[in-house]
Amino acid sequence: MDTSVGKPLGRVDGRLKVTGGAKYSAEMPEEGVVHAVIVGSTIATGSIVSVDVKAAKAQPGVLAVLTPDDAPKLAADPVKKQSPTDMVVHALQSRKVQYQNQPVALVVADTLERATYAAALVKVKYRAGKPKVDVKAEQPRAYKPKQINGKPADMDQGKASTDKAAATVDATYVTPYEHHNPMEPHATLALWEGETLTVYDTTQGVFGTRARLAALFGIPPESVRVVCKFVGGGFGSKGSPWSHVVLAALAAKAVKKPVKLVLRREQMFSQVGFRPETQQRLQLQAREDGKLLLVKHDTVSCTSEFDEFVEPSGKSTRMLYASDRITTSHRLVRLSVGTPTFMRAPGEASGTFALESALDELAVKLKMDPVALRLKNHADKDPETGHPWSSKSLKECYRVAGDRFGWAKRDPTPGSMKDGRTLLGWGMATATYPTLRSKASAKATLLPDGTARVLAGSHDLGTGTYTVMTQVAADALGLVPAKVKFDLGDTRMPETPVSGGSQTAASVGSAVKKASLALRDKAIALAVADPGAPLHGVPAAQVTVENGVLVSGGKREDFAALLKRKGLASLDAEASAEAGPEKDQYAMHAFGTHFVEVRVDPDLGEVRVSRCVGAFGVGTVLNAKTARSQLLGGIVMGIGMALMEETYLDPRSARFMTQDLADYHVPVNPDVPDIDIIFVPESDPHVNELGAKGIGEIGITGVTAAIANAIHHATGRRIRSLPLTLDKVL
Ligand code: MOS
Repeated sequence: MDTSVGKPLGRVDGRLKVTGGAKYSAEMPEEGVVHAVIVGSTIATGSIVSVDVKAAKAQPGVLAVLTPDDAPKLAADPVKKQSPTDMVVHALQSRKVQYQNQPVALVVADTLERATYAAALVKVKYRAGKPKVDVKAEQPRAYKPKQINGKPADMDQGKASTDKAAATVDATYVTPYEHHNPMEPHATLALWEGETLTVYDTTQGVFGTRARLAALFGIPPESVRVVCKFVGGGFGSKGSPWSHVVLAALAAKAVKKPVKLVLRREQMFSQVGFRPETQQRLQLQAREDGKLLLVKHDTVSCTSEFDEFVEPSGKSTRMLYASDRITTSHRLVRLSVGTPTFMRAPGEASGTFALESALDELAVKLKMDPVALRLKNHADKDPETGHPWSSKSLKECYRVAGDRFGWAKRDPTPGSMKDGRTLLGWGMATATYPTLRSKASAKATLLPDGTARVLAGSHDLGTGTYTVMTQVAADALGLVPAKVKFDLGDTRMPETPVSGGSQTAASVGSAVKKASLALRDKAIALAVADPGAPLHGVPAAQVTVENGVLVSGGKREDFAALLKRKGLASLDAEASAEAGPEKDQYAMHAFGTHFVEVRVDPDLGEVRVSRCVGAFGVGTVLNAKTARSQLLGGIVMGIGMALMEETYLDPRSARFMTQDLADYHVPVNPDVPDIDIIFVPESDPHVNELGAKGIGEIGITGVTAAIANAIHHATGRRIRSLPLTLDKVL
C-alpha cells in the first residue's frame, strides 16, 4: 500500500473552508446569544475616577454595562499566572489603567449594533499620568529579566581569542513594533450552564485557555470546556488567553445568557499583544580568513508596566555559528503599553535581522563571499550546549539554493548589477528555528464500517493539522486517508500542547502515530487470537494491514469483519508521546537559507523583491503541499517584516496610531514574487516519532536580512532599521 505521509494531499477541510461550511468560533450557533463590546481607555497610565453609564444603559436592547465598580469579581488575581505563557489580563477588577485601549467597561446588548452604539455613550473620567513611550530613553533603566524561554537572559560561551581581528563590525539594529493581524479577529463566545462554562474561543491553546479560566473563576478545569474548530490565523497572538476571553465569560455570568465578544481590528492593535521594538547591538570580530573570534549580541526590548515578555533576539546567535567566544544578553525596559507577546519566530525573526545583516557587513569588510563566510563558521556541533546536532543539512541548503539562484554569477561590487536603470541586488541569509515538542495525547477508534476516527484536542491555525494528522493516522492504521476522520479543537478530547513554537505536527503527530499503531496492534491481536478466525495462530508480527485488511500470506480479515465477528461497536486505543532521552543528547534545530533578488528604483528608492529561493532541511516532510505553504507563508511574512510592517506609537499618548490594515501594510500579491522552495532530503531518527521538524516559523527567519543585504548589494546602502522603506533607501 502506498504511504500517505509526504504526499501533497489537498486539505481535508478545504471544501468546508471555501464553502463557508467551516464554523469559526464567533460563528458557533448558540440559542439567544447576545453581544458584548469593550470600551477601551483613552489614557495609557493612571486611574479611572468615574464611569457614567446612564446614557448607555438607557439605550434600547442594552442588558448590562459592566464597569470596575460593579463587574463580578474573579476568584483569583489575574496577575498570578497558571503557566509562564499566560498574560496578565484586565477584566474590570480595578480602576487602574496601564495601557491605551485597555478594557475599562463592557456593554452587553441584544445586537452588535446596539452594543456598539451604547459603548460609544459610556463616559469615563480619568486621572492620567505621564506615559513612558521610548525604548531608547528608558534604556538607562533597563533591567535584566530572570530568564528567556526558560534559559538565562545572559550567556557567555567560549574564551576570548588572542588572535588579531582583521575586521570588526559594531552596529545597532532596530526592529519596530509589529502586530500579527490574523484575518480572523480574536473572538470568544461564552455561556454558563450552572457552574459549567463553555467557551468557543479562537485560540492556539484550548487547554491553556481552560486552565486559565478555571483558575480565574475558581472552578475545576473539568467544569470548563473550550472549543475551537478552526483558527483564521494566530501567529502567536492567540497563544494565550487575553482580557476579552475573561470578559466574555464574566459578562455571560452577569447577564445569564451566551455572550459573544469579537474584537474590532483597532482593538487588536492594543489588547492582544505585538512584537516589541528591539534595539540590538551586534559586535563581530573575525580573522582575515573569516574565522569568527567574537560574536556579541545585546538586545534591549520593551515590556509593559505590569507583565513581562522578552523578545529573545539573541537566541539564534547562541547556536548558529561557531566562534571562539559568543556572548548574548537581554534587557527589558518598561513602557506604558500592553504586554508584547510571541509573534512568529519570536526572537529568531528579529534576532536574525541583526545577526545575518552583521555577517553581511563583515563579509563586505573582509571582501569575502557571504556564503563562504558562513561556511567558514559553520557550527559542526551546537555552540550553546556542545551537543551534536540530531541532523543538520545547512551546507546542502546553501549549495542547492545557491545553484538554483545562480549565486555564482554575482558581482559583489555594490551597484554593479543593473537591468536598464533598475539596480539589482542579490543577498542571502541563514534561517533557523528550534525543533520543539511537548507531551501530547491522542485517541484512535475503529468503527464497524472499517473506518477510523482519530481525536486530539489540538488546533488547525490554517497550517494543515487536520490534513497531516489524517495522513499520519492513515499510514499507521493501514488505511487510505479517505477512511480516516481526524478531529480536533475541544478540551473534551485528549490533551495536547499549545500550537506555538512550531510544535504541533511533531507533538500531536507523534501521539496520533502511537495511538494509531496501538490500535492496529490491538486489532491484530484480536485477529490472531480466536480459534476459527481467518488469521488464527499467525504470529502477530507477521500480520500487515493494507487498506483496512489484516493480511498474512493468503489469510485475510478486514477491520469491519473483525469488529462484526467480535460483536464490537468499536475498538479504540489511546497513547501519549513526549520527548525521550535524546532531547538531552542532541541539539535539535531546523536550518535553511534564503537567496533573494531585489530590484531598486534608483530615483524613487522603491524596492521590489523579484526572486526568492529558499532551501530547508526540516526532516520528514509530512505533506509536500501544506509544508510548502507553511514556508511560503513564512517568507511572505518575512517580506512584510522587511519592507512594510510597522506600528507607530504616538510619543505623546502612548497609543498605537496604526490601527487598521489600511495603515498597517502587509504584502499583497504584487509584492510577492514566485517563491522557490526546496526541501533538502533529511532523515532524523532523534527528533520525534515522525522524524519531522517544525516548519511554521523557520520560513520567516533570515528573510529580512537577506533583503537588507540585497538592498546593500544594489545600492551600497546599509539599512539597520526595519522596515526597509524607500525613505531609508534614498
Ligand atoms: Mo508561534 S509565535 O510560537 O505561535
